[in-house]
Parts: sequence; structure tokens; C-alpha cells
Amino acid sequence: MKKNIAVIEGDGIGPEIMKQTIKVLNSITRKYNHDFHYQNVLAGSLAIEKVGDPMPEETIDICLKSDAVLFGCVGDPKYDHNSIGMRPEDGLLKLRKKMNLYCNIRPIIVYSQIDKSPIKKELLNGVNFIIYRELTGGIYFGEKGRSKNGEKAYDYCVYSKKEIEKIGRMAFQSALLRKNKVTLVDKANVLETSRLWREVIQKIALDYPDVNLDFLYIDNAAMQIIMNPKIFDIILTDNMFGDILSDEASVITSSLGLLPSASIGNKKSMFEPVHGSYPQAKGKNIANPLGCILSASMMLEHFEMHEEKSILEKAVKKSIEDQVCTSDIIDSKFSSTTEEVGSFIEKYIQNQ
Ligand code: IPM
Ligand code: MN
Repeated sequence: MKKNIAVIEGDGIGPEIMKQTIKVLNSITRKYNHDFHYQNVLAGSLAIEKVGDPMPEETIDICLKSDAVLFGCVGDPKYDHNSIGMRPEDGLLKLRKKMNLYCNIRPIIVYSQIDKSPIKKELLNGVNFIIYRELTGGIYFGEKGRSKNGEKAYDYCVYSKKEIEKIGRMAFQSALLRKNKVTLVDKANVLETSRLWREVIQKIALDYPDVNLDFLYIDNAAMQIIMNPKIFDIILTDNMFGDILSDEASVITSSLGLLPSASIGNKKSMFEPVHGSYPQAKGKNIANPLGCILSASMMLEHFEMHEEKSILEKAVKKSIEDQVCTSDIIDSKFSSTTEEVGSFIEKYIQNQ
């Protein structure tokens, strides 16, 4: 099968993890005779430096014309306190909006061989849930601004029934293939948008009598993810709550570096690890490539290349079983480099 894939390496560790991801994908395409064509495009801080825009129109254009986008990560601390009013992250948000990537899927899987979680082992056995995070609405994209004298600032949180319904249905569909449970996480005791979410989701639930729907307030959900993570199957939530809960959930798996995600739109989709650009590790060959590699595996699934996806996941599992891992998930005395992890997975696939 022929596919055109736009690749955004981005900032920090982005180029290193993407290099391993493409290497692994090449071993899949060789094996299955696929023809993937990769086109590198500019975004993030490099794009600010070169063309003064963290998401140039040309990049958006190429992404919209491609079959899928693979995204590394963006962000650079030098933009934290500067006055140019532009950040690499703005580029990512603009691309999500332009591609209409309304549904962000973040699987949270605990691997029993990894032992770096701060949570007690007995709470973690078999934890496997997915966060469905709304990605193009809410407080991230509502009107924002400052009062004239600069003394006040505001960020509006707005949701329409339509926006909630689209991601809601996807979450229920996914639950049908899993443990038939959806937990809506909100703050309906305080926020009007949360009350609208409840109204819409309760209505959708009528179409899915086999799926059990329950509700948790965000503060309680944050606690349950730590105390009782086994209760979750699908967590459905808005943009801001989903952002926060996914970082929290990563901690119970041992490392943010492990988490992949798929951002699904009406027509186009993008695949991006959950972690940021980790600038302290840039160029050191220590970053965990698995978040990005597993995002590529979600891309294969999206292309309906099921066998390819499962062989890739098997290879990742094998690297974890054999402890060929970066130092975020294994004792640093025995750890492997970013490149060694990529090569192990590549070889495993070749030898299947
Ligand atoms: C994420 C990131 C982004 C977000 C940032 C980089 C804008 O934290 O994908 O979770 O907040 O959505
Ligand atoms: Mn985040």
C-alpha cells in the first residue's frame, strides 16, 4: 500500500525519536511491501527562526494533503519568557485546529516488567485504560485576552453540543470493543460546560445500552487514577482535563516517554507522543523512543494494517521484556540508548 506521510520532527528530542520511529517503520514496510513516502516539514521553534511562524502555511498544506502526519514534539524554554508573543506550542495548537483533530486517544498501559512507578505494585496489575481527550475546543481555543490596563486576563471555555457528541460517540464505540465502560470526567458541580457534556453524553448512552456510563468530578478522578487505576476503561473528558490527566496517568506507567497518542479528525489524522520536547536530553541519545514508535503503531492501525501493527507492538513488548530500555524505565546501570532501543525493535521485526 502506498502512503504519503508528513513528518514533523520538531524541537528538543524530536529528531532523535523520529529517526528511530522511521527506522522501525522502514522495517515494517520492507517486510510487507508497503511504499511509505515521508516528507519532512517545518514547525515549532525551527520554523519561528526560519520563517517567523511556528506553523507555516506550507506545512499545514502538506499535512492536509498527506495520508497521515507523524509529529515528534515542540517546545523550547527560550520562548518561556520572551516578548515576541509566539511559542512553538502555538504551532501545534494551530495544526490541531486546522486539521480539525477533535479526538485525541491516549492509551495508558502498565507493563508488568517496568518497575519505576511510584505507585504500589498491587494497585497496578493489569491497568489498561484509554483517555479520550477532546482536542479542538474548550478553554484552549475559547476567546482569550487582557483588559486594557493589563490588570485582568480571561480564557473562555466554550463547548457546543456538536463538538461533545462527535468525540462522545467515538468513546462509546471504543468501549464496545473493550470492557464496556465509559467514565465521563468533568466539573459539573461548578462548570456550565460540564453540565452540557453530561446532558449530551447521557443522551448518547441511550444508543449504547451495553455500555456502562459513570461520572467523576475531575478532582476525584485525579485521585482515583493514583489510588484505584484499575476501575477505568475509557475516560472521556474535555481538552484541559484530558491534558492534565494524561500526564498524571503517565506517572503510574513509570514514564511519560512511553505514551503514544492518535489525534483523529474528520478526514485527516495525526500521531504524536504525549511527551514534550525534553530539551535537557536533546542530542544525548537517552530519550525514550517508545512513545513515538507506539504512535506510529497507532498510525498503522488507522491505515487498517492490523498485522503490521501487532508485529510492531510485539517487538516493543519484547524490548521491554528483554530490558532493552532507556533509563527512564530501567535502572540506568543497565539502560540502552535511544538508538539501541530502535535497532532492537527494527531487528526483531526483520527476524519475524
Ligand atoms: C499535549 C501537550 C500540548 C497540550 C502542549 C504542548 C500545547 O501538553 O499534547 O498534551 O497542552 O495539548
Ligand atoms: Mn500535555
